[in-house]
Amino acid sequence: MAALRRLAISWRARKTSIGFVPTLGALHEGHLELIRRSRRENRRTVVSVFVNPAQFGPREDFKKYPRPFARDAALCRRAGVDALFAPASRDLYSSDDDTRVSVDRLSRPLCGGFRPGHFRGVATVVAKLFNIVQPDRAYFGEKDFQQFRVVSRLVRDLHFPVRIVPVPTVREPSGLARSSRNRFLTAKERTAAPVLARALRSAAQVLNSRRRRSRSPGLAAEARRAARKILSGVPGLRVQYLEVADPRTLRPWRSGPALVAAAVFLGRTRLIDNVLLGARRAPSD
Ligand code: PAJ
Repeated sequence: MAALRRLAISWRARKTSIGFVPTLGALHEGHLELIRRSRRENRRTVVSVFVNPAQFGPREDFKKYPRPFARDAALCRRAGVDALFAPASRDLYSSDDDTRVSVDRLSRPLCGGFRPGHFRGVATVVAKLFNIVQPDRAYFGEKDFQQFRVVSRLVRDLHFPVRIVPVPTVREPSGLARSSRNRFLTAKERTAAPVLARALRSAAQVLNSRRRRSRSPGLAAEARRAARKILSGVPGLRVQYLEVADPRTLRPWRSGPALVAAAVFLGRTRLIDNVLLGARRAPSD
């Protein structure tokens, strides 16, 4: 950790711009897209790989989260990453740690309702990582839209000198959003999984057709029904939530740009995805 910090300080002293891509590892094409974007926009790119215990609930998959570190390191090298930061838990947390960062209102809806403490764990580790890496820009995927909003608010509220850059979701040709958790799907579940993106698109179509003229909550309900109908055809799929939200506040949508976001369980695997409409880019703070 001291080495990474020294490197970051020397780059900053030479006014070398630093792009940062924080990850949990098990890198895939989604992560690589963030890295490519960072390399285009910065002289140096730092990637972190750290399976952050603080953001996993007691019944979640912390223990079985994949950790193919040698492969991740090779992918980073091939992608032209300048520094790979893979701290141990004790590098980031001390046993008597007493400080947490929480972004209250944005952490409550959507995933926050089902993963208590998750975004506090994310905000805390991201704040620590930003202080160590000291990036000019940090790259976050829109696939985890709520996370992007939470981090963007954290940076604004605590005056971190970092620009948060949202990167559109990378999908498989089937439409399925790429995710480290896709590897947990059985062959049958994998075939069914693209239904999530399809359902979200159909809700978006309902909204898009009348969004400009109508602002009734009835329209959001109709969009959600259209998506649920598509999902209900899949055996073994359970919807955790499916919401139409304001992309800035994540509260229920009333008018203007809309975010259709869902979490589903396919068997034991939890998948999330979203579609943004009516805005050219995701709203940063
Ligand atoms: P992780 O799930 O590894 O994701 C790291 C980054 O890659 C996040 O910004 C995420 O949104 C982005 N990403 C994942 N799949 C993507 C896809 N299909 N398209 C575009 N971007 C994608 O998110 C985390 O790790 C952690 O919570 C972290 C921010 C590292 C804090 O611990």
